[in-house]
Amino acid sequence: MCGIVGYIGSKNSVPILIDGLKKLEYRGYDSAGLAILSDGKIDIVREVGNLSHLENALNKNELCGNLGIGHTRWATHGRPTKENAHPHADCKNNISVVHNGIIENFLNLKEQLMERGHVFHSETDTEVIVHLIEEYYEGDLLAAVQNAAKKLEGSFAVAAICRDHPDLIVVARKDSPLIIGIGNGEYFVASDIPAVLKHTKNIFILEDYEMAKITPEGICIVTFDGEEVKKDIFKVEWDGEAAEKGGFEDFMLKEIYEQPKAIKETMRDKFSKEDEIIFEKLQLSEEDIRNINKVVIIACGTSYHAGLVGKEAIEHWAKIPVEVDISSEFRYSDPILNENTLVVAITQSGETADTLAGVKEAKNKGAKVIGITNVLGSTITREADGIIYTHAGPEIGVAATKTLVCQMVALYIFALYLAKIRKYLNTEETSAIAKDILMLPDKVEEILSGNGKIKESAENYANCTDFLFLGRGIGLPVALEGALKLKEISYIHAEGYAAGEMKHGPIALIDDGVPVVVVATKSKVYEKILGNIQEVKARGADVVAVASCGDDEIEKVADYVFYLPETPEIISAVLAVVPLQLFAYHMAKERGCNVDQPRNLAKSVTVE
Ligand code: AGP
Repeated sequence: MCGIVGYIGSKNSVPILIDGLKKLEYRGYDSAGLAILSDGKIDIVREVGNLSHLENALNKNELCGNLGIGHTRWATHGRPTKENAHPHADCKNNISVVHNGIIENFLNLKEQLMERGHVFHSETDTEVIVHLIEEYYEGDLLAAVQNAAKKLEGSFAVAAICRDHPDLIVVARKDSPLIIGIGNGEYFVASDIPAVLKHTKNIFILEDYEMAKITPEGICIVTFDGEEVKKDIFKVEWDGEAAEKGGFEDFMLKEIYEQPKAIKETMRDKFSKEDEIIFEKLQLSEEDIRNINKVVIIACGTSYHAGLVGKEAIEHWAKIPVEVDISSEFRYSDPILNENTLVVAITQSGETADTLAGVKEAKNKGAKVIGITNVLGSTITREADGIIYTHAGPEIGVAATKTLVCQMVALYIFALYLAKIRKYLNTEETSAIAKDILMLPDKVEEILSGNGKIKESAENYANCTDFLFLGRGIGLPVALEGALKLKEISYIHAEGYAAGEMKHGPIALIDDGVPVVVVATKSKVYEKILGNIQEVKARGADVVAVASCGDDEIEKVADYVFYLPETPEIISAVLAVVPLQLFAYHMAKERGCNVDQPRNLAKSVTVE
């Protein structure tokens, strides 16, 4: 996700902006740039790669000035190139802009602006913003940004400067974070608090539809409609490191809490306003889709669990047979594939060696390959024929959390798309399911508010050495993921099992020292899972259940119940996994483990 910074004051802005960008590195980026206003002109320096490349270029240019804006770009529209890096300028190099977010109506706006003679130099959505501001600019930068902001659809945090105003930065926000640090005769703009903490702990946090006019003399905050906003100063109490984690104790917890937003971002480019489903980079024609005779999903670890959920959705809605294989097995198997097989390779990092090898194997056998990844420009984006992006934002914690729920959501939407094209679902049916999917972020939010109870249960079980996680149907991948999360961050032995398999072996493990976590949401196998709960209770085990709200039965048999808001069975996996992430997190914290960097594990497994 991009990061923006800005400075206005009496000091040289260049080192301040660079330092600010460094503090935003955690957001992930592939290019960076600065625009400095000095001596009546704006100089822009941009580089691909990390900030040291930009620093080298700045040193060569000997850039210096009291006012500037800066940006780290995580490519969404257009490749990570110098031309696409921010800041972007208008036709006359009079106005310069940095932007974080996605402008959904940029193609439309671009067309209109080009018709009016504007010349574009990048593939980005951002460039329309600066040309739009230029279009409205009649000497008042605030008014021009205000008018432009009203035309933009999507999300944006924008900072704009103009050659005519050597002492002014204008910022605006909708659905992307933006803060202003208040110094002594100087102001700092940033996407996040860590970027300004070195200079000030006094912050204005802009809300959606708010904008500000910032000069060395002061700040004026107004709404997009021009109404003045009186705002309290937010005093930051955290130190630098805590601030990067947004006040959360760890990245993992922050990322768990970011899930509602991450899901929204993942859905944003896939569900259009006109009830259509869009996969921009799929590279599959409708005919290709009609010809698919089998889907093979390959992935590792948590991504494999997303694949199991994807199987349920694709088979249920699109009626295509799906196999799900662990990449390290698939690559050395002798899979039966042909040109009508669609291989879906899921990898949040886009770099997992086994999955990439599986992609090669599939392509060698003539199958079409779609990658699902969170990282733009990662290897899978070059190796696969088509790509589906989850837009979860950078995930720093080694344990996959928000990338998993976004993979599931991407797979649900993909399954709907296949079903629609293959005519197993009509427009009304697709829209009804889409509506349920669109409600997931609010429901995840609701689950997160129950964190206290989950923590309490973890405190109770922190000394246990073995756990069993059980599920059936759509609950099985959730149980497998719950077990993986617990073992990888708390180092407790945990096994995920199909509940129906219990009596074929694992039931021998059950006694009063082995708590059993059961995914027992309302589904076609609900009664069966209640039976499984009785079996483990009869052998003295404690039961922690994930259940649907309003289920009073479960209270009678389970020791702890984590309730989920009501949702259709197939998409309930996104909800059911959240309490188990929190459970694993609190268990690990109780045991004093480093949840962000568990022993022996890496965020991307680039070796076999
Ligand atoms: C999940 O918490 C783990 N870190 C791990 O299982 C991970 O999902 C696996 O290594 C696959 O990674 P990928 O999605 O980047 O391919």
